[in-house]
Amino acid sequence: MNKRLIIANWKMNPDSGAKARVLAEDTERCIAPVRDAEVVIAPPYPFLRDVAPALVKAVLGAQDVFWEGSGAYTGEVSVRQLQDAGVSYVIVGHSERRAIGETDEMVHKKTRAALEGGLGAILCVGEDTRSGNVIPAAVGAQVRSALTGVKKALLKKLVIAYEPVWAISTSGASAGPCTPDMIFQARLVIEKTIADIYDPGASKIPRIIYGGSVSPDTIVSVISAGHMDGALVGSASLNAETFGRIVRNAAEAV
Ligand code: PGA
Repeated sequence: MNKRLIIANWKMNPDSGAKARVLAEDTERCIAPVRDAEVVIAPPYPFLRDVAPALVKAVLGAQDVFWEGSGAYTGEVSVRQLQDAGVSYVIVGHSERRAIGETDEMVHKKTRAALEGGLGAILCVGEDTRSGNVIPAAVGAQVRSALTGVKKALLKKLVIAYEPVWAISTSGASAGPCTPDMIFQARLVIEKTIADIYDPGASKIPRIIYGGSVSPDTIVSVISAGHMDGALVGSASLNAETFGRIVRNAAEAV
């Protein structure tokens, strides 16, 4: 079994490199005792080099990337530039980026560029709204679109984060609307999509994690009943102690 993968997505926080460094150090202290978990910390771009030296157990992630290698692309950051800053994983297609105009085609180009350039890609997919228990077709369609032309050999560097957009920022409330059964159904839909694109064996290659808000309490059922390989954590990752409990509970969940 793979180690549980827990990713801290700090989003546009904190507001200084010094604070980012302290948060990374505190996070390292809180995750140090946990064996059998893989942790990624994804700070804002300007703080990558502040956070990198603090990392011992965790590896560095970025929150976005551009698909071109170099050139006149003001404001964009390439795969190579991220690697030079020490980044191993990049989040692509987060719903907060899709909400400000990132299209499936852009997510596809970013996913491909990241994987082909040797980065781990954390591809976020998820429906905006939901009625009833059926996973909307948008989820499979986003996976299919992002993986167009991606060689099967690259799937081992792929992580797919199922993020029902309507459940994000609900602070992992235990009565949260996305039940472990819905989460498991999403996993099956994602696996079936990968099996359709490649072959049935391929569906077990990428890790599939959950990102619709988790807490130290809900992470256990996300993993044990939702059959997820880990979680993409937003707001709860800004508190090192809470994040440490999420990592520990994820590692221990059966
Ligand atoms: P949240 O964010 O944990 O703050 O709900 C999750 C996400 O957007 O990845």
